[in-house]
Amino acid sequence: MNLDEIRQLYLHRQSCRAFDGREVPEALVREICSVALLAPSACNAQPWRLIAVTGERRREVAACLQGLGMNKFASDAGAFVAVCEGRSNLTAKLGGRMKGTDFTANDLGILTAHLVLAADAAGVSSCILGWRNEEKLRAVLGVGEKLRIPVVVALGYAKADDPVRPKKRKPLEETFTVL
Ligand SMILES: Cc1cc2nc3c(=O)[nH]c(=O)nc-3n(C[C@H](O)[C@H](O)[C@H](O)COP(=O)(O)O)c2cc1C
Repeated sequence: MNLDEIRQLYLHRQSCRAFDGREVPEALVREICSVALLAPSACNAQPWRLIAVTGERRREVAACLQGLGMNKFASDAGAFVAVCEGRSNLTAKLGGRMKGTDFTANDLGILTAHLVLAADAAGVSSCILGWRNEEKLRAVLGVGEKLRIPVVVALGYAKADDPVRPKKRKPLEETFTVL
């Protein structure tokens, strides 16, 4: 893939808030996740765990992502992938402590980016959802009380009339410098 093709993928990937309700097949969700899990991480610690929810159980996940008028569209998503914190390794933990950096948060963000881009390449729309009830989510996913779930990615198929929007990004002069 050359840079122009990558740019096209990045421009095409957008937060979908108009899913058509169709389910994303489990096999496809698995494939997207397996590609995303090729993402890099500090000391290759891979401090993550992805929990996918397909089928009717996805309705329970949607309910954990809504409230105060937020994320109503999640009801029409075709699958969800919870991006969870997993076990790190000693090198990454020590390195992070010595450098005052939380590598895990970085790693989970990078994984999430890989996930939504892989989904787009597979013809699946997505939206990263940080507005969530983590406690309720843990109960629905049946995971331990302390497992952190910083975001959930909604996957699905965009409605036919949902256009690809132009990207709204800060001007390059504000966000990029060459010294
Ligand atoms: C960590 C994170 C949390 C987000 N949470 C939500 C959310 O709860 N609901 C929502 O509609 N969009 C959410 N978004 C999507 C952003 O609003 C969106 O990425 C941003 O406006 C840029 O638009 P684009 O993704 O279409 O390029 C989230 C994005 C990130 C990275």
